[in-house]
Parts: sequence; C-alpha cells; structure tokens
Amino acid sequence: MPKVPIMQGGMGVGISLSKLASAVANAGGIGIISGTGISVDEMRSHIRRAKDLVKDAGYIGVNVLFAMNDFAEKMKAALEEKVDFIISGAGISRDMYSWGKQAGIPVISIVSSAKLARISERLGAAAVVVEGFEAGGHLGTDRPMFEILPEIVEAVTIPVIAAGGILTGADIAKAIAMGASGVQMGTRFVASHECDAPHAFKQKYVNAEKEDLVLVKTTVGLQGRAIRNNFTNLISGTNKLKIAKCHDCLKNCSYRFCTLDSLLTSVDGDVDNGLVFAGARVDEIKEILPVQKIIDNLTLEYLESTN
Ligand SMILES: Cc1cc2nc3c(=O)[nH]c(=O)nc-3n(C[C@H](O)[C@H](O)[C@H](O)COP(=O)(O)O)c2cc1C
Repeated sequence: MPKVPIMQGGMGVGISLSKLASAVANAGGIGIISGTGISVDEMRSHIRRAKDLVKDAGYIGVNVLFAMNDFAEKMKAALEEKVDFIISGAGISRDMYSWGKQAGIPVISIVSSAKLARISERLGAAAVVVEGFEAGGHLGTDRPMFEILPEIVEAVTIPVIAAGGILTGADIAKAIAMGASGVQMGTRFVASHECDAPHAFKQKYVNAEKEDLVLVKTTVGLQGRAIRNNFTNLISGTNKLKIAKCHDCLKNCSYRFCTLDSLLTSVDGDVDNGLVFAGARVDEIKEILPVQKIIDNLTLEYLESTN
C-alpha cells in the first residue's frame, strides 16, 4: 500500500513521464507514466528510469488508452517491464484483463458509470477509477464525480478511486468518507516542479481563470476541457483543419484536425497554438510547487478536516 492514498493520474501527451511519476511515488503516493503519444521504446525507458529513481517501496503504474491503435503493443510492453499495475482509459476490452492476469499485474479501468464499473469488475479489473466531469483530459460523462461515486461504490466490491476536481485534503477526506479507497489527481500535479511538461504549460495553469475554460470535442469523439487560446478558437466552429501528416494513432478518428499534433505542440511549449487540457478547478491553482510540498499540504488539510 502507498503511504498516502493519492494516485497521480496518467497524463498524455508527455505530461506525466518518469520525472513526475517518480516524484509522486517518492512522496508516498502512486506515480503513473502515460504511454500515450510516445514510442514504445520511449515508454520502456521512462518505466526503467522511474524505477531507478524510486526509493523504498514506491509504486509506478502505466496509463494506456484503449482508443489508441498501439494500445495492445503498449500494454504488453508495460507488462514486460513489470510495472506495478496498468490503468486503461477511453474504453475497455476483455483481453486486457487476461493479459494482466497472465503477467500477475493488476489492471485498473477508468470508468464514468456504475454500468461500466460492474462490467470491469466482472471482466477482472483489480480496481476502478471513477472519473467525473471535473477531470482533465478526455471526458466520459457530464456528471459531477461526487454524484457518480456513491453509485459506483454501491455497484462493485473492488476498490474505487475517485478522480476529477480533487484539489484539497478536504476533498480527499470527503471522497474517502463516501467509500473511495483513494483519489486520482491530475491538474494539481501539472503545476509542480517535477511535472514533465514545459514551464509555459504550467504557467498557463497558474494564469488560468474560470472564464478561460472551454469544452472542445476532439477527434477521439469525446469532449475535453481546455484553456482557451488560438487553437481552441480555431476549432470552435465546424471547419476542418489541415492535417500535416496523419500518425494513424486512433482506432476511430474524425480527422477534423490532429489531436495528437495539437497536444504535442503545447507540450513543446507553444501553449497558444496547441491544446492545453486542464481540470475544472485549474483556476484555483496559484503556484507551481514541488510534489513533496503538494502532498504535505494535502496531508495537513486532510488531517485538519478529519479532526
Ligand atoms: C493535461 C491532462 C492530460 C490528461 N491525459 C490523460 C490521458 O492521457 N489518459 C487518461 O486516462 N487520463 C488523462 N488525464 C486525466 C487524469 O489522469 C486524471 O484522471 C484527471 O485529471 C483527474 O482530474 P483532476 O485533473 O481534476 O485532478 C489527463 C488530465 C490532464 C489534466
């Protein structure tokens, strides 16, 4: 078990790699490397680097997206690298649980409904992450996390991890009081010293106001919340953008623009012309902090709110 019930959410493209994941694991939480938008070899080397950097008994998992064409290849490579567990988002398949079982590695599914949580449990998921509308990244629901959480706690017997809009220790206490075994947090960890994103990306978070947040529909076919910029203005209509070179990365793509390129652009530091995903409470983040400080603050707030 980790020292603190906090899992850092996998964040593609290039946002949660070995640096962030190992920092969270070393601070007593669970670090997740996102396998999305990097090559299989890059993913393998980030897993190895993170394992080297993690002291004591820190946990490192890998997030892979079912919606991507390289899902099976990435998942199998992560299993070969003997990560502590796999988290799959944007869909589930029967196969992935049996691959995990064969390798002796738990597979966790990200779900947004009791129905999908039940199916995941039946197929062999070790736990489920319940992601609500407040989350960063692609969204599977328009319902708030605290509304869905009790339904899922009721529906399954495996551990339930709450994700979306968790920003303070009081939020963690609330989720645990409602039956969650822990929380998954993304947005707060982006604005950390160790996050693998460039400084401009983190600064965009610190500068964001509530009214800067927009929902965009990407070519994955799902909505995501982004910080308004030239790029979100460009895709706000129905016009098709020129795709420089298709990476053929998605199982189903609308081809209206290239989601992968737009995420690579922002992670290269051009946060005006690329897609900057963020959670609904990003406007409450006022400074970029070391991961250890973020976890210490959360622990203090948690203790204050439970005493
Ligand atoms: C910039 C960003 C990128 C994300 N990318 C992914 C991803 O590639 N795969 C995934 O399953 N979740 C992704 N997420 C979701 C997080 O893993 C996490 O569940 C979510 O951010 C939790 O909500 P919070 O940001 O309000 O803490 C992303 C979130 C952010 C902020």
